Amino acid sequence: MPKAQLRTAVYPGSFDPITNGHLDVIERACRLFDRVIVAVAHNEQKAALLSIDERMQLISSVTSHLKAVEVATFDGLLVEFARNSGASTLIRGLRAVSDFEYEFQMALMNRRLAPEIETLFLTPSEETSFLSSRLVKEIARLGGEISPFVPPPVSKTLKTLFATRRKKSPRTRNPRTITRRK
Ligand code: PNS
Repeated sequence: MPKAQLRTAVYPGSFDPITNGHLDVIERACRLFDRVIVAVAHNEQKAALLSIDERMQLISSVTSHLKAVEVATFDGLLVEFARNSGASTLIRGLRAVSDFEYEFQMALMNRRLAPEIETLFLTPSEETSFLSSRLVKEIARLGGEISPFVPPPVSKTLKTLFATRRKKSPRTRNPRTITRRK
């Protein structure tokens, strides 16, 4: 089928790194669309752990079983990228009420900018709805086990990265207490 006739959706995000929650949303989107472009945003205001290339490679490797998925990166406005990609829909995962305000504001703003593009919210599975890239990074940085939360290549990448960092700058692992003399 020519690309113009495919039902195309863009799933944008930072994906720093991709988690099982993101993957769950991607799999759901693939049941609804012929083509799902997972689009990694360039955001110079947000300090990232992984480079854009590393994030794209990880996404590509963990979605290799999904034929509808394309991995891309974009700079500038999301709606412009969606338009140029021939997408009719933006996908966002909605995990909890706490996500809602930000997502609602973004969806309405994107609608103002591009009324022909819809935002579709997908609910991730209960098992993954508490996950966030930020928490995964924090756990990995502190030496915790992240394999239940991210696909194996992501777990491996983060473990290696933080193990190297810990070797370079070891820190005190013992919590300290102050004992008052009575
Ligand atoms: O995973 P994130 O960090 O919550 O994703 C946020 C993202 C990348 C979707 C958002 O920041 C975005 O759309 N950035 C592109 C710039 C843009 O279009 N901004 C206007 C949004 S209303």
